[in-house]
Amino acid sequence: MNGIVAATLKKKCVPECTNREMEIHNKLLPGDNGGMRTSSSPQKNTGPHESSVEAAGADGREHELISAVSHELRTPLTSIRGALALVISGAAGILPDKARELLAIALRNSERLVQIVNDILDAEKIESGHMRMQVQPVALTPFLEQALAYNEPYAEKFNVRFKLQSVCSGAAVMADPDRLMQIVTNLLSNAAKFSPPQSEILLRAQLEGGKAVIEVEDRGAGIPLEFQSQIFEKFAQAPNSGAQKREGTGLGLNLSRQLVELMQGEIDFRTEIGKGTVFYLRLPIASQPHSEVM
Ligand SMILES: Nc1ncnc2c1ncn2[C@@H]1O[C@H](COP(=O)(O)OP(=O)(O)O)[C@@H](O)[C@H]1O
Ligand SMILES: [Mg+2]
Repeated sequence: MNGIVAATLKKKCVPECTNREMEIHNKLLPGDNGGMRTSSSPQKNTGPHESSVEAAGADGREHELISAVSHELRTPLTSIRGALALVISGAAGILPDKARELLAIALRNSERLVQIVNDILDAEKIESGHMRMQVQPVALTPFLEQALAYNEPYAEKFNVRFKLQSVCSGAAVMADPDRLMQIVTNLLSNAAKFSPPQSEILLRAQLEGGKAVIEVEDRGAGIPLEFQSQIFEKFAQAPNSGAQKREGTGLGLNLSRQLVELMQGEIDFRTEIGKGTVFYLRLPIASQPHSEVM
């Protein structure tokens, strides 16, 4: 792929990597979570452990305020979302079509608000140094299978197909499994949002230079050159993202970068206008593999 933003990765898979194509169908509902950034603290690649970011010198009271407001918003919002979902499902009686349509719009907007509040809370936790990570060995194969199953609703919503292209059987990375799922969910949801209908999105893992690399490849429009340097900034959304832009907050990649750095990893992308984009995560390999995810 030309027009590459970061160093192109050499695809050198070790013998235990197996090529396989599989599609998993599942009806779980993921959220499009994502991110904000600070430097990471050193971690050892042994066994489960916790880490947190140093307080970034930000004003403590401002962080407390954001946190309190976000928490206060989340409880009523969750209740509104739950009530709307119940009414739409017919639990309170049959609704006229028009009423159901209007309530469905309200439900979608309440879900978006919950997502925004969760992203702001995560950003606040990172910036105030309160983000706690449970870094532990995460087996790649079951993790990637779960990531596809969990995100299948995005494939359905945007009429694209997710495929698991290759996995490194037996290999494990050192990561916080929930936060890693949040990052991969953001990458898959972005790929789904910014890809043409019917196109295929590939998820794969390979081992390179002592690291594990997880990649999400799409055949979308690519990332415009003038936007590439801002893509990991807070609230960054490309000006011409069109209708898909409304589906997100522009926090996802910012949070993803900060979270992956807390796991001693990296995130970057390579893109070609008109051809597509590959986002990749590079993570430390666990010395002793295996621990089922979630
Ligand atoms: N795979 C992709 N292809 C094209 N543009 C992308 C892709 N992933 C991200 N982007 C651009 O980067 C922006 C920021 O992404 P993100 O931080 O996840 O926020 P959000 O998904 O909430 O918009 C997107 O709005 C889009 O403009
Ligand atoms: Mg996103």
